[in-house]
Amino acid sequence: MNRTFLRHRRLRQSEAMRALVRETTLTADDFIYPLFIVEKAGVKEEVPSMPGVYQMSLDYLEEELNELDALGIRAVILFGVPNEKDELGKEAYNEEGIVQQAIRQIKKTHPHMLVVADTCLCEYTSHGHCGVVRDDVVENDASLKLLAETAVSQAEAGADIIAPSNMMDGFVITIRHALDEAGFEYVPIMSYAVKYASSYYGPFRDAAESTPQFGDRKTYQMDPANRREALKEALTDIDEGADMLIVKPALAYLDIVREVKDRTNVPIVAYNVSGEYSMVKAAAERGWIDEKQLVFETLLSMKRAGADLIITYHAKDVAKWLKMS
Ligand code: PBG
Ligand code: ZN
Repeated sequence: MNRTFLRHRRLRQSEAMRALVRETTLTADDFIYPLFIVEKAGVKEEVPSMPGVYQMSLDYLEEELNELDALGIRAVILFGVPNEKDELGKEAYNEEGIVQQAIRQIKKTHPHMLVVADTCLCEYTSHGHCGVVRDDVVENDASLKLLAETAVSQAEAGADIIAPSNMMDGFVITIRHALDEAGFEYVPIMSYAVKYASSYYGPFRDAAESTPQFGDRKTYQMDPANRREALKEALTDIDEGADMLIVKPALAYLDIVREVKDRTNVPIVAYNVSGEYSMVKAAAERGWIDEKQLVFETLLSMKRAGADLIITYHAKDVAKWLKMS
């Protein structure tokens, strides 16, 4: 008789009360910040479709890393934009390649900064595909050899984490073997295990100059319609020795983030990709949304879905906002 309805609002009465019962939080430690390094001198150029994101040359790197340090961001992921591209993406595994140089420089000036190397060929091939092409087909096994060479050259330069994003079959085990043989048994693999063929990558391809010159990536990246297949990909990569798994893109795939989180026991990384970033920036520039609130809400949704870490172009903005609050 005395029973009454539940008063959920009791725990929402004040900011202090809300903070007390908050289930999910964001900190600078959650973030990995992407950097696009160009093989030139004196270049720092904003990517038109990604306001606030720059292509930069090595001589701007130290200043950038100082800024990240001051903001408490402790991990970066590197993408290289080489001067020369060819059929076999040779600059990807050149020990004097742009990413290898960038890694060596960062580990010298900022040794504590975790450097994640994206391991792929698409920024380095003339055709813009993530592997070797023969008769217009992206060849799986021939690509593996070059990807393994790329990973080893990145580890030799000092990369702390190898992040292969090419979606060839067998890339994790091939790269694991190659790293181990070269003495890098303790360099972890953060695999892009679940990577969809997505239109959300458009602005990234401007930034990395990696648009495929023919066809698309649908024979190696996943079909957005598939959920169970994501699990198959995730479990395969764990079986092959992946230490962490990336789900990409993030926002339209939060169901996948949750699923992979619940069915595995490794750290899960959500890649909040370029198109997701550009849409927010475009709406914010028009004054159509509150950028800060919207970005917090979006990144929280990724953690709530099960992401332990987030690769995001918003990292610097969020770290600044966190410092202010
Ligand atoms: C390709 C690669 C892509 C991204 C990172 N590495 C996508 C692609 O072109 O297929 C996308 C990242 C983003 O959109 O922010 N290896
Ligand atoms: Zn690629």
